[in-house]
Amino acid sequence: MNCHFLQTSQKRRPFVLYYLVHVIKMQRKAQSDEFEIAFYYNYLSVDTSKMINFTYSNTNSNNRYTMIKHATTNGPVLELIRNRWSPRSFSNKQVSHVDMETILEAGSWAPSANNEQPWEYYYAFNGTPAFETLVGGLAQFNQTWAKNASVLVAAVARKTFEANNADNKWAHHDVGMANANMILQASSMGIYAHSMGGFDAHIINLALGIKEGKEVVCMIAFGYRDEADKLIEPLKERELAPRQRKPLSVFTTKL
Ligand SMILES: Cc1cc2nc3c(=O)[nH]c(=O)nc-3n(C[C@H](O)[C@H](O)[C@H](O)COP(=O)(O)O)c2cc1C
Repeated sequence: MNCHFLQTSQKRRPFVLYYLVHVIKMQRKAQSDEFEIAFYYNYLSVDTSKMINFTYSNTNSNNRYTMIKHATTNGPVLELIRNRWSPRSFSNKQVSHVDMETILEAGSWAPSANNEQPWEYYYAFNGTPAFETLVGGLAQFNQTWAKNASVLVAAVARKTFEANNADNKWAHHDVGMANANMILQASSMGIYAHSMGGFDAHIINLALGIKEGKEVVCMIAFGYRDEADKLIEPLKERELAPRQRKPLSVFTTKL
């Protein structure tokens, strides 16, 4: 079901919203596998950038509904890209080792300058001492939710070319490309990722034995989504907030 009530008069919007909530309840009762709804975050103002487009599916371990926050796009952007988002509510369903290897392999097929592949990934599964160590290296804010992820990954850049030890000024760029591959591969498998720049490089470097010439670019949490209700504020509010992007006119120049 896809409902847009942009055209509805301001006066009637609360009633339409009530109707939508009713339909959602009916859908939940019917226990359908998946349903989609688009509505206004703040339904009294006509601000299209605030439109959220959620899909709810009952695929988490408790058979409860979790949401996908679709990107609202102007063009026919790939479904895979529209559906990727960065959740903070992770279920206790564990990512399998085989699936994690598939995700990492997808990363390896990213392009890189001179095919240097200047990335290294260190990862740990929830429930292991290594996972606890990585959680301990995250910023306090990130620890509160990332400790529930299934896998924590440290994405590391090798900053010089192996052949001649010259500076590789594209190393961080290429690690980002590999990360994007991994994250999209994961979401195609129903596994979601949340990247983090909030970590203590000193702690992570020490834990992983990262020396000069290498740098931890970011940490990434992987897992299955869970309900926003599981989060405390302000995390819950952020989980439910619409996804927004700058319009093309702000960051593109047609020459
Ligand atoms: C390199 C990088 C660092 C980030 N650092 C954090 C972080 O430390 N904590 C956090 O909660 N989210 C972090 N994020 C997530 C972004 O806030 C998020 O991707 C952005 O708001 C866009 O939302 P979306 O991914 O759901 O589209 C980071 C994302 C990236 C790519």
